[in-house]
Amino acid sequence: MSRQIIRPARSLSGSLRVPGDKSISHRYAILAALAEGTSELRNYSPAGDCASTLNCLERLGIAVEKKTEMVRITGSGLSGLKRSRRELDAGNSGTTMRLLAGVLAGQAFESTLTGDDSLRHRPMRRVIEPLAAMGAKIRAHENEYAPLEIYGGQLHPVDYAMPVPSAQVKSAILLAGLQAQGTTSVTEPVRTRDHTELALAEFGADVRVDGRTVRVVGQPRLEARQLTVPGDLSSAVFFLAAALIVPGSNLLVEQVGLNPTRTAVLDFLASMGAPISLVSVEMRHGELVGDVEIRYAELSGGRVAGEAVAAMIDELPMLAALAPYTEQGIEIRDARELRVKESDRIAALAANLHRMGAQVEEFSDGLRVAGRSREKLRGAEIDPRGDHRIAMALAVAALGAHGQTSIRDAECTDVSFPQFFPVLGKLANL
Ligand code: S3P
Repeated sequence: MSRQIIRPARSLSGSLRVPGDKSISHRYAILAALAEGTSELRNYSPAGDCASTLNCLERLGIAVEKKTEMVRITGSGLSGLKRSRRELDAGNSGTTMRLLAGVLAGQAFESTLTGDDSLRHRPMRRVIEPLAAMGAKIRAHENEYAPLEIYGGQLHPVDYAMPVPSAQVKSAILLAGLQAQGTTSVTEPVRTRDHTELALAEFGADVRVDGRTVRVVGQPRLEARQLTVPGDLSSAVFFLAAALIVPGSNLLVEQVGLNPTRTAVLDFLASMGAPISLVSVEMRHGELVGDVEIRYAELSGGRVAGEAVAAMIDELPMLAALAPYTEQGIEIRDARELRVKESDRIAALAANLHRMGAQVEEFSDGLRVAGRSREKLRGAEIDPRGDHRIAMALAVAALGAHGQTSIRDAECTDVSFPQFFPVLGKLANL
């Protein structure tokens, strides 16, 4: 188990690229597998999670060629997947498990989806229920937890109103709907990331969005595509926060995905006084892509609650760890979902920030972290609880602390950003 030492940094400057977007990579790979012909995906994410999706697809009989500059996937059409004799292992990846559940629900064979200890404790009823309503039979431990035994077959379309905002659940239903005969619709309580909708359209499906409702027409013929994945804004945010923690910093993150369903975090940072500019923004395969420029500035502080939570769900750990460097601190509420991510992120943030000397108040649905009026943070021993975003958020907070921080089990960052520590180390001269 590796340990990473983080020392106070002087300033960060220069330009960098972050790995390809994890959410988009999963979707392109899955749709390429369901298309006819060979797709080429450039800048496919090197994240362990996205490798889990490719491994599962390979087990389902799909030819995947991994090159350094691209992944080539030869699809077998909507009903051409083959039964895997072994369990399909989604590793730590909720997106792999929930999206593939939607695909496998419509395949005429039986599959078992499993994952690591963290994933086997995450809620799956939210995906089991709509897929069962479409005609799939799914068995799960306590009707909630993986391993999921999926007995797939012919599905019928549904109109489903989702109780929990989740892009993964929405995507699972749309992928199942793709295989049903007729039109499936899903209505979200609040808009979540729309990469599935955009990717479906790219691969040739008939998909329509009307407010919070998305409709997909089943049984289209999907066509192989050549696509480039933009950089992952959720990974870029760790560097944006680093620049806002260490005075004198100036960074340019190049070629980042700027899909409006993902950029709420930039608006929030700007609302606290962060000087952020977007440069050379263009549309690529329905997704906005551009460079993000940021300079150090003193931040006021703020509150994230209500609909904003779903729009910034993956960035909340970094915002909580940025709070001690703001004037008034940051409060996060209505974010109970954080408790069922790769770890209980509310508890993990509260415990680790507390260890660094931050003043933290924990609520059932969030936390409030006091601002810089208190003493400066101090270096500490961090236990990220196997959660990549907790490890990265605390490592960034440590750049501005007194003394040295040690991050335990730092390799957990591999699931989303395998080169995180080398890239951070180079920029921060650690
Ligand atoms: C994701 C959706 C979100 C997010 C996750 C990726 C996706 O999860 O937290 O990191 O790619 O659809 P939920 O759907 O559980 O909110």
